[in-house]
Amino acid sequence: MSRFTRLVLAGGVLAVAVLPGLVLGQGAADEVARKVADLANGKGVEDGKVDPKKADEIGKKFDLDELMHLYRPQKKAGAKDAGIEVRLERLGSRAPLAPADLAKEQAELRRIARLNIAMAELAKRHPPKPKPGKGKKEWDGFADEMKKASVEMHKAVEKGDPAGLKRAANNVSGACAKCHEAFRD
Ligand code: HEC
Repeated sequence: MSRFTRLVLAGGVLAVAVLPGLVLGQGAADEVARKVADLANGKGVEDGKVDPKKADEIGKKFDLDELMHLYRPQKKAGAKDAGIEVRLERLGSRAPLAPADLAKEQAELRRIARLNIAMAELAKRHPPKPKPGKGKKEWDGFADEMKKASVEMHKAVEKGDPAGLKRAANNVSGACAKCHEAFRD
């Protein structure tokens, strides 16, 4: 067997071994995205009402890391996407959007606000291991803060209120950061 043939064979074996893993990984990520979007699209979510049975189910099925991963850029082919986490930070820290830009992005901003509300409830399904002064009470407090700010964000998006959107997005990002500081970093 020539070196080349051996290389090609080895490459083939590697591809067969590795590719399904990659494909499955993407499949699982897509499933998380689909399930959470379905929860986020539920009736009443804009007012903070999340279907508790569906949330229990999704919370059991996926761990917190898999869920939070939705805030990272989603690697769809050709997508130029900074991810929701970065988007929220920019919305909260930069000058308010021009009203025309808010109108143009209304559907996407609404989607993000609803996603946050669903995610806050899913986070509550994953309480941390308690440490002194950092238990379920603090955890749920941050999740509720994130949810409340996201309901405000949704309202501002519906009203087409750029200043309100900036304020609410800043509060959402603040709640993310506080929980990460207390429990992740
Ligand atoms: C109630 C607490 C809490 C809140 C609120 C929270 N997070 Fe997290 N987040 C965590 C913890 C804990 C982890 C680490 C999970 C792990 O690694 O198992 C995490 C992980 C992440 C990750 C890394 C996921 C990955 O790909 O590995 C991102 C991104 C993230 N959070 C974004 C956000 C954003 C954006 C918000 C607000 C909109 C937010 N989080 C709100 C607790 C929280």
